[in-house]
Amino acid sequence: METVTLNGTKQTEQDRLRQQELKLSGEIPGHVAVIMDGNGRWAKSRGGIRVKGHQAGVDSVRDTVEVCAQLGVRHLTLFAFSTENWTRPQHEVNALMSLLVQTIRSETQKLHENNIRLTAIGQLDKFPTKCRNQLAEAIKLTKTNTGLELCLALSYSGRWDVTQATRKISEKVSKGQLSPDEVSDDLISSYLVTADKPDPDLIIRTSGEFRISNFLLWQLAYTEFYITETFWPDFRRDELYKAVECYQGRERRFGKVSEQVNSNDREKQTS
Ligand code: FPP
Repeated sequence: METVTLNGTKQTEQDRLRQQELKLSGEIPGHVAVIMDGNGRWAKSRGGIRVKGHQAGVDSVRDTVEVCAQLGVRHLTLFAFSTENWTRPQHEVNALMSLLVQTIRSETQKLHENNIRLTAIGQLDKFPTKCRNQLAEAIKLTKTNTGLELCLALSYSGRWDVTQATRKISEKVSKGQLSPDEVSDDLISSYLVTADKPDPDLIIRTSGEFRISNFLLWQLAYTEFYITETFWPDFRRDELYKAVECYQGRERRFGKVSEQVNSNDREKQTS
């Protein structure tokens, strides 16, 4: 795991020690989701155009993927383009599409060499052919990799996800293939586009906004939130370490009381 490198530079000793410390101090979240926000404001604060912020955001994506792989996170889901993002000015949408194609093209081989599996969720059919093809090629190349799953949420929205699942379930019910009594939490989860992964343990949102913004609405039911003022292009490994450290300090009760959670933990340790 520790040999994972996406930016071609060797991991520093300080970095290796920080990761070792985190691995020993608590649980590493199995699934991390990120709302990468603040690219536009980052660029504006430097007197640049918004697209510069998206371009700089790619370096943060690389750093985040690398650290997640090194820490042993199993799934990383990045909200790269929401359904609502289609309504941005056309030139910004076009720039984001080009950046996506370029980034996938330049990073795929490195992802593959580092045993990372690229996947995507969302209304991918809405993307230009060039983008879809580049993505499909990368997904195909990395599909048998066994390390970190890097999932890009593209033209994704939580309401769309719940709607498409509901539609499929309703069809089955109307054909008599499923009884309404069989519709449960687990069944609904199995029709969402995230059916093959666990719900996120930790969600990070950058740029200080306190919103879910139509991301994984169903899946975030018991996810721990970490919100930082830092704009996405400035969110680098040290920020991610802080987020994981903060996660490790949380008590996840899933609706229970503290005493129950602690006695369950003790039972697990002694069994
Ligand atoms: C939100 O910032 C960011 C986006 C809508 C796009 C995120 C894209 C990237 C980080 C680059 C490409 C990603 C990959 C995975 C290759 P914003 O524009 O809403 O910022 P603002 O709130 O300051 O306006």
